[in-house]
Amino acid sequence: MNINWDELRKVANESMQKAYAPYSKFPVGAAALTEDGRIVAGCNVENASYGLGLCAECSLVSNLTMTGGGKLVAFTCVDGHGNILMPCGRCRQLLFEHSAPNMVLETVSGLKTIDEVLPDAFGPRDLEERK
Ligand code: THU
Repeated sequence: MNINWDELRKVANESMQKAYAPYSKFPVGAAALTEDGRIVAGCNVENASYGLGLCAECSLVSNLTMTGGGKLVAFTCVDGHGNILMPCGRCRQLLFEHSAPNMVLETVSGLKTIDEVLPDAFGPRDLEERK
């Protein structure tokens, strides 16, 4: 599939503008392409109870589920300056759950697959094998 990274980054930046980040003052926007060609997006949503803040990727996977589900083939994430941001460890796990095989992420060190950013991941198949 041909991936329009400029378009994905544009949507990530627009989403970043919607972030609710009054505590960290670190807005984040994320965007991803689904297997069926949709773009889903998210922003971080913080909370006065600091530890309850939601990352942009949480918002993105909720958006994915709410708009028909499916698997993600490409992902990008930006900070408040529009610079590429690596998804945190927890969010790599969130993305892995909804990833198409060989999902590609735009990272600070170029394009990488989900397996490269989360090697030997624990996932749905592990639960199946141990039933
Ligand atoms: N943040 C994200 O939204 N995604 C990440 O992958 C890294 C961190 C948010 C969480 C918090 O609202 C802010 O960035 C500062 O950590």
